[in-house]
Amino acid sequence: MSTVLHGVIPAAGTGSRMGESIPKQYLRLGGKTLLEHSLLALLGVPGMQTVTLALHPHDTLARSLDLLSDSRVHTVTGGPQRADSVLAALRAVPANAADWVLVHDAARPCLQVADVQRLVARVIARQAGGILAEPVVDTVKLADEHGRVLQTLERSRLWRAQTPQMFRLGELTEALESALAAGDPVTDEASAMERLGFAVNLVGGSSRNFKVTLPEDLALAEWYLSRQGEAV
Ligand code: C5P
Repeated sequence: MSTVLHGVIPAAGTGSRMGESIPKQYLRLGGKTLLEHSLLALLGVPGMQTVTLALHPHDTLARSLDLLSDSRVHTVTGGPQRADSVLAALRAVPANAADWVLVHDAARPCLQVADVQRLVARVIARQAGGILAEPVVDTVKLADEHGRVLQTLERSRLWRAQTPQMFRLGELTEALESALAAGDPVTDEASAMERLGFAVNLVGGSSRNFKVTLPEDLALAEWYLSRQGEAV
């Protein structure tokens, strides 16, 4: 039997770096919005019971998506920062504190179910949270405030965090509440968990699961989506 899972998709951003008049999660690729691609990927994971979407308070576009009538899909109103949106969604997830929740960005439409299944398998085997991540291939420099190199970091230990990020519902809710109350920066769920001393496992993902951020990213996402299921 597959593990009981719940999904959360923060989709309340405005995507201003895309320079488009509509938020990036509603841009279309291959006939579907980025949000629908991301949602379909999560709904396709065996064991996924519900997916809760955090939407912008002025969102008018979600209601036109057929997928929202799926009984597993719920919506809440998001907040000013990504972490506020995730927390709002977590509070609405119809699950127990010990259940596992996967948080996935609406802006990562090329997620493959097989990668999520590897993440789930590792987290369940270790009974500790984890995230999809990609080893860094570039040489990375740490800069001072004048843009001069302070240090070259050891590449073999550097990873780029992706989503989904998978944690227990109760622990993640507590970690985000604590970080937000302290005013600490929370750019992903893992950073809030690390802050409280929880272990976070890194599970190697795929470069196709990148975050659509700039206009030029759309063509690459479209190319990956047109080859869904192929090893590219
Ligand atoms: O802006 P960025 O690309 O980092 O956003 C990552 C994800 O977080 C996107 O899916 C975006 O819609 C979501 N987000 C949110 N609430 C915010 C800001 C971003 O749900 N206030």
